[in-house]
Amino acid sequence: DIPVITIDGPTASGKGTLADEVGKALGYGVLDSGALYRVAGLAARRAGVDLDDGDAVAALVPGLDLRFQDGHIFLGSEDVSARLRAEATGLLASQVAVHPQVRSALHQLQLSFRRLPGLVADGRDMGTALFPDAPLKIFLTASAATRAERRYKQLISKGIPANIEGLREDLEARDERDKNRATSPLAPAQDALLLDNSALGIEESVTQVLDWWQQ
Ligand code: CDP
Repeated sequence: DIPVITIDGPTASGKGTLADEVGKALGYGVLDSGALYRVAGLAARRAGVDLDDGDAVAALVPGLDLRFQDGHIFLGSEDVSARLRAEATGLLASQVAVHPQVRSALHQLQLSFRRLPGLVADGRDMGTALFPDAPLKIFLTASAATRAERRYKQLISKGIPANIEGLREDLEARDERDKNRATSPLAPAQDALLLDNSALGIEESVTQVLDWWQQ
């Protein structure tokens, strides 16, 4: 069996950073499943497809010419990594992610990331829908204030103007949509370990996950 560690949780809880660091420490690959929903949202917007039309958005997925290379994501020949990280794209992602057709269109692609020597999977439903047999499942949380502040610093450090109140509203709106959708709503798996990292630095969070993994 190829080992998988799943890290699920709300927006800007630090899943991406934690997944990257744990992956690096163990030499495992990393699946950023949110990026796939972001690509689907971006592709739908660009194709002029109605984001509320689940069948139409899902129909775009098999034709996506996606490439993952050195931490960058290419759509055709275009490096869309920066565009994918934009808050506006996060909002598109959460709109298309409500559709069961879109979720199932992305299912196999996500499973294909499970390769030796192992995988760290970051998302909303990694421990519930994608890898229910994962031996270690983490549900990562942090207060809304902490998350808004982290996202703010992240954007400012990249020279992207941001407004902390607006960010907090956006992330709470996205969380509400993720929690209330009918298919794979955001919720911890029954066997997930909860980690609130509001008061933890990244290194402390990594250490905690590696401790759990070694147990
Ligand atoms: O980094 P951040 O938490 O802001 O966003 P993300 O993980 O890139 O996910 C963007 C959006 O995609 C989320 O708000 C979810 O609506 C959706 N998503 C999902 O439904 N299932 C996943 N496994 C990952 C993301």
